[in-house]
Amino acid sequence: MNFGIPYMGSKSKICEQVCRLFPNAENFYDLFGGGFSISHFMLKHRCKDFKQLHFNEIREGVCELVKDAINGKYNYDKFKPDWISSDEFKKRVNSDIFVKLIWSFGNNGKNYLFGKDIEFQKKSLHNAIVFNEFNEFATKIFGVSSFPNGFTIIQKRLHLKNRLRINGKGERLEQLERLQQLQQLERLERLEFYTGSYIDVPIKENSVIYCDIPYESTASYDKNNSFNRKEFLDWAANNKEAVFISEYQVKDERFKCISNFEKRSMLSSDKSNTLIKIEKVFVNEVGYKRIFDARKK
Ligand SMILES: C[S@@+](CC[C@H](N)C(=O)[O-])C[C@H]1O[C@@H](n2cnc3c(N)ncnc32)[C@H](O)[C@@H]1O
Repeated sequence: MNFGIPYMGSKSKICEQVCRLFPNAENFYDLFGGGFSISHFMLKHRCKDFKQLHFNEIREGVCELVKDAINGKYNYDKFKPDWISSDEFKKRVNSDIFVKLIWSFGNNGKNYLFGKDIEFQKKSLHNAIVFNEFNEFATKIFGVSSFPNGFTIIQKRLHLKNRLRINGKGERLEQLERLQQLQQLERLERLEFYTGSYIDVPIKENSVIYCDIPYESTASYDKNNSFNRKEFLDWAANNKEAVFISEYQVKDERFKCISNFEKRSMLSSDKSNTLIKIEKVFVNEVGYKRIFDARKK
C-alpha cells in the first residue's frame, strides 16, 4: 500500500520500517511532513500509541491539499479534474498546489508532467477515464468506446494495465487513488496541522519528533524556503524530547545512527532501471535513551 499523497522524496515505501523505530509517547510530531506519508501510516497503524499527532509543512498549500483529501474533495465519484496542458501548468503552477504537485514530473513542483511528444495521447486517456469521452486513440488503447456505468477508478487502472501488459502505465491513476484513499482515515480529532518552519512549532512534553529533512545533496523544495542545516542540528541536539532524523548521512557526534535500509527509486517505467540508496535514521541523546529505557521494561 502507498501512504500519503504523491510527493517528491516521499517515505511511502519505507513508512513501516521508519515508524517501527519510534518509542511510545503522548505526542507525535511529523515536522517536515511533506506528502503526509508518515503521518498517514501513524494514524492508520499506531494511533493507539500516541494521543495526538502534529503535522507540519512549510510549503504553502500542502496542509490544505492534505486536509481537502481527508475531507473527501478528491473522492472519485465527485472529483472530475480537467486536463491540465503544459501552458495551463505554467499559468497555475505557482497558485494552485494541486496543479503544482500532481501535474509535475516526479511531483517536483517545477516541470510539467509530460513531454510534448506524448501530451496528446495522455490527454486522450485522461478524458476517457475521467469523462468517459473516447476519441479514436483512446478507443484503440482501451479496446472499448466507453466504460460501463459505475466502473471504479481501480477497475479502469486494471483494465488499462491488462490491455497494455506493461506495469507503470497506470501510475497517473494510482496518484488519484492516493488522494482519494486519505478520505478513509478516522480519528482525525487527534490530528493538528501547522504551516511554517519546524522551529516555530510548539513542542509538548512527552513527545516523539520525526524530522524528514531535505537531503543535504538535494536542491531545495521551494526557492523561498532555504534550509539551515547547522541551525537544525543544534535545535535537534538540544531538544528535551526525542528527535528522529531521516538522512543519508549526519556527520555530527551528537547523533547516533539507529537504522539503515534500502530505498529504491525507479528512474523510468522500466523496473530494471532502479536507483538504490541507503537511507538512515539518526537520533538525539534523549531519543537514544528512551529507546533503551523502553527495551528494559
Ligand atoms: C523529504 S521531504 C518530506 C517528505 C515526507 N516525509 C513524505 O513522506 O512525503 C522534506 C520536506 O521538508 C520541507 N521543509 C523544508 N524546510 C523546512 C522547514 N524549515 N520547516 C518545515 N519543513 C521544511 C520541504 O518543503 C519538504 O516538504
